[in-house]
Amino acid sequence: MDKALIRLVLCFTFVSVTECLIYKKWLPNTNLDNPSNWNLGRLPCGNDRLVIPDESPVVFYQLNTTIRELVLAKDGEFVLGAYSTLAFTEEPDHSASCLGSGADVEFNITRPADWIDPLNWCQTSSESGSCDDVALLDNERVPCVTDNVIFPTGSSYYVNLGSNLDISINTIKVSGKAYSTATFDTFLNSEYGKKIFFPLTGNRSRVTIRRSQCMDVTGCACGNEQGGLLDAICALQSPRCARPRCKIAFRPTGSCCDMCGGIFNLTYGSGFNLETLRTGIKRNFLDGKAEYQGVSLFVSKITDGNVQMVLWDSQGGKLSSAVAHSVKVELDRDIKDGGFGYGINKFTLKTSDDQTEPTAGGLSGTNNESGLPQSTIIAIAVGGGAGLMLLLLVAFLIYRRRTRPSFEGDAGYQIFDRFSLRNIRKPRVVLPASLAFSWSTPPPENVGYSQGFDNPIYGSAPLEQPKAFELELTSTALSESAEQQPTSDHGFDNPLYGDMQVSMFSDPTQVQEEKIDDDVAGMGEYKNYSIA
Ligand SMILES: *[C@@H]1O[C@H](CO)[C@@H](O)[C@H](O)[C@H]1NC(C)=O
Ligand SMILES: *[C@@H]1O[C@H](CO)[C@@H](O)[C@H](O)[C@H]1NC(C)=O
Ligand SMILES: *[C@@H]1O[C@H](CO)[C@@H](O)[C@H](O)[C@H]1NC(C)=O
Ligand SMILES: *[C@@H]1O[C@H](CO)[C@@H](O)[C@H](O)[C@H]1NC(C)=O
Ligand SMILES: *[C@@H]1O[C@H](CO)[C@@H](O)[C@H](O)[C@H]1NC(C)=O
Repeated sequence: MDKALIRLVLCFTFVSVTECLIYKKWLPNTNLDNPSNWNLGRLPCGNDRLVIPDESPVVFYQLNTTIRELVLAKDGEFVLGAYSTLAFTEEPDHSASCLGSGADVEFNITRPADWIDPLNWCQTSSESGSCDDVALLDNERVPCVTDNVIFPTGSSYYVNLGSNLDISINTIKVSGKAYSTATFDTFLNSEYGKKIFFPLTGNRSRVTIRRSQCMDVTGCACGNEQGGLLDAICALQSPRCARPRCKIAFRPTGSCCDMCGGIFNLTYGSGFNLETLRTGIKRNFLDGKAEYQGVSLFVSKITDGNVQMVLWDSQGGKLSSAVAHSVKVELDRDIKDGGFGYGINKFTLKTSDDQTEPTAGGLSGTNNESGLPQSTIIAIAVGGGAGLMLLLLVAFLIYRRRTRPSFEGDAGYQIFDRFSLRNIRKPRVVLPASLAFSWSTPPPENVGYSQGFDNPIYGSAPLEQPKAFELELTSTALSESAEQQPTSDHGFDNPLYGDMQVSMFSDPTQVQEEKIDDDVAGMGEYKNYSIA
């Protein structure tokens, strides 16, 4: 059983439900160190010319590299990560990782990624956790009403919220900062918000932060199947559907695609627990069974109050139909015995191999195929003995304790405190002649990770000797890039000296789960380099 699943079972069995939040993490970014953000599919290096086109979103720079020229957008934003070095050279780099340097490498993110696209999210069981391997229907892959949305720290984003949609979620954190419905709306209309969340104007979708998580052990409906959201999701997802390779395909509630396999409609009674069902079925019928490796299990509460359970495989549904028939035998047996194992009152099953069986009774032949034990209800399902509970509780605590330090060591705490521009040789930067590209000295060394650190721009102890770093500008570079002249003579501001803008990025340590505020601006861990 994988860790995420163990955690969920423990959550819903012993620990308060508050421990069991489900997170949806946004995957795309507009970071410079992401090769897929570049038109050549590789990072700029050697004597490349790094071009950030005018329509580019906020770009996050966290990279050590050399380039020949830097061509910035006319009106853009370049957020500088810590411990990054941008050096300039005219020497080509012949190393294998940098073949063909000397080219124009262009940042090619010009289109925001869609909020309602299932491909842009993954589910995690903690705020900074990695993606869990959970089978989710299309509507559940986009943040549900009870989900917590995370735009991780240490990245920049470009997101299309779409038009006229009603998006409801439990909470949202963007770069470590939590928002309420009202503060998020303010953020969306702020200068930074507009650079990240699209569309800038018009009927932008409404985002409601409900602050009500799922407290129901029988599960909570995702909510995306209502209000036109599923239609919007499916407009993107349907063209990606594989053609179902079976006689009788079905389309589960919340899916954009027809599927082959088995679909259960379960009506539950007392003692039912959605995660227990999921874990029990997975463990008893799928885990460790080599012959059923391609079978996925989807378990969801649906809006009519029943539970939908889908078994699916991409091989025409043969394998998953077989598993479904075995599950049916098991559920029939449990219902006959009083329903103590799964808490199911009644159910229907449809399979794509056309063997719908409306009445109870085993299907001979399936059991020898799967080699299932006759009594497979796991102990956790019925509550188990106290000893087992204790054991699992201890396991859970250990698990949590082990995960904690990794939060503190999160790279997000260290970013944005140092940036250097170092000349290797023949410095050449494409910047207007009247302006200096300046940057601050590093912040004080006594940075406490547990406390976060004060951004010297905003902090209580301003830098004592702010030393601007000025780059020499060459006339050749200027003539090559006439179109990069700034629109105002204000030009490039170092936030240390010029107009300050409240950072959208903030120190995650300062944001409590329940704290909704705007006051963390003073603790910004990012410096923003604004190009007005
Ligand atoms: C950017 O270029 C890379 C490499 O060619 C490509 O994989 C990626 O899809 C492009 N992105 C966009 C938004 O065009
Ligand atoms: C850049 O190089 C410095 C010194 O070698 C290193 O400490 C830092 O982690 C590097 N930064 C990145 C983003 O790789
Ligand atoms: C925007 O909303 C208004 C009022 O709800 C509606 O009349 C209008 O058609 C919408 N515009 C678009 C482009 O959807
Ligand atoms: C599931 O079954 C119940 C009654 O058993 C029925 O009311 C409900 O409509 C069914 N749901 C689906 C999605 O078929
Ligand atoms: C079950 O076993 C019998 C004989 O042992 C065999 O004929 C049958 O094909 C098996 N059923 C399945 C579904 O494999």
